[in-house]
Amino acid sequence: MTREMLGEPGEGGTLTADPTAVLEVKDLTVDFPTEDGVVHAVRGVSYRLRPGEVLGIVGESGSGKSVTSLAVLGLLPKSAKIRGSVKFRGVELLGLGDKEMSRVRGKGISMIFQDPMTSLNPVYRIGHQLAEAVQIHDKTVSTKAAWDRAVELLALVGIPNAQDRASNYPHEFSGGMRQRVVIAIAMANQPDVIIADEPTTALDVTVQAQILETIKTAQHETEAAIILITHDLGVVAGMADRVLVMYAGRPVEVGSVDDIYYRPRMPYTIGLLGSLPRLEIGQRQRLTPILGSPPSLLNLPPGCPFSPRCPMRQPVCDDVEPHLIEVDGLGHVSACHFARDLAAKDVSAAEVFVATGAGLDDPTAQVPAASELLESLGISTDGEDSADGRHSAGGTADATAEGTTEASADGSAGTADVPGSRQTPNPVGDPTAAPPSDPTNPGETR
Ligand SMILES: Nc1ncnc2c1ncn2[C@@H]1O[C@H](COP(=O)(O)OP(=O)(O)OP(=O)(O)O)[C@@H](O)[C@H]1O
Ligand code: SF4
Ligand SMILES: [Mg+2]
Repeated sequence: MTREMLGEPGEGGTLTADPTAVLEVKDLTVDFPTEDGVVHAVRGVSYRLRPGEVLGIVGESGSGKSVTSLAVLGLLPKSAKIRGSVKFRGVELLGLGDKEMSRVRGKGISMIFQDPMTSLNPVYRIGHQLAEAVQIHDKTVSTKAAWDRAVELLALVGIPNAQDRASNYPHEFSGGMRQRVVIAIAMANQPDVIIADEPTTALDVTVQAQILETIKTAQHETEAAIILITHDLGVVAGMADRVLVMYAGRPVEVGSVDDIYYRPRMPYTIGLLGSLPRLEIGQRQRLTPILGSPPSLLNLPPGCPFSPRCPMRQPVCDDVEPHLIEVDGLGHVSACHFARDLAAKDVSAAEVFVATGAGLDDPTAQVPAASELLESLGISTDGEDSADGRHSAGGTADATAEGTTEASADGSAGTADVPGSRQTPNPVGDPTAAPPSDPTNPGETR
């Protein structure tokens, strides 16, 4: 299977066109001019969604998950400066007017928001709101047929006694039931893509599991591709085919669900996994929080945005923002100068993230990764420039600028190794080189 067939970043560093993709987002950037300066909310997001695929987008609060999706749906305020490309079934959406976009919304791409009351009108009956969603894109459906379809949809999403409950108002439903209604509205027109933005965050844990099951039902019924946005890696584990981890407005690791869970190659992802209870491990686990908070997107300093919180940081990390490079195998990319060193040896979060026990908000309490660990990964810690340039703190001015610009403009795999990154015999930037192979992941089929 070729890289193009998998729809992954090509060796040239950009996404190659895939006629089968239902949604293709390329180099998406969103800036918000504010009184305090420009907020760089999304800094180069690229992804591709194939029919029926489930993509999980994971990241902490403020990492740009919602803004990315609102940009796709044309729902950002007019002040937002949006660049890049969003193609739905090959048609560019950026720049379309409200009228054209309203044809896409609901029928082509529908959205489930975190708070169901954002989508429901408190003064209309549930059945009426569902029937309206059915009729909005098909005026030929009679009122009676639309109501019947509303009842059918309510039953599909697990509302008991749907015939009667269709006459209720939203306040007569529990939070979980309201979210089911929103899912029913999202599937009413058999969309090609459903974006679910934190669909379970406002609900208690038992209801969360039911809502995820309901989304699975919606996917089964509509055969839609799904983007599942969450801050919780656990939520995407059982549902996603691929996962995109976001940090400070851009993807920092993208891979299959197994890549991300079992072969993370970016310290941030390793940290996220370390703070997640994992049942399959089946023994007592020490959870390891990532100390500190994400950076402000107003005045982002140069270098890796995760650097202030990263126990593995080296001098180069504060100078050059790493761009995505391919690791392990097809479709697995990571934005860390040491991604390939991390690919050489599986490390656990407990090895990397060791805190002094001080406050969770204090990143200075994070103990730097042990020199033995770094040495075992082939990362020299003597502070001297190493032969392969990993500690060269930025290399030449030209190369630094190139690496940084590319990282912020392109969420797909980069075209050149940045200074300070190990020059492997198989650099991603070399179009003649064979892709790195991963003996543990032969012939990935997703
Ligand atoms: N209209 C706006 N004007 C200025 N800044 C904005 C605007 N909307 C969002 N932002 C900023 O953009 C950044 C990304 O926000 P976004 O809502 O996408 O985060 P998120 O990853 O969805 O977080 P959460 O998990 O809390 O929902 C944040 O720093 C936010 O403050
Ligand atoms: S580039 Fe440096 S700071 Fe960023 S994640 Fe990798 S090691 Fe940590
Ligand atoms: Mg959000």
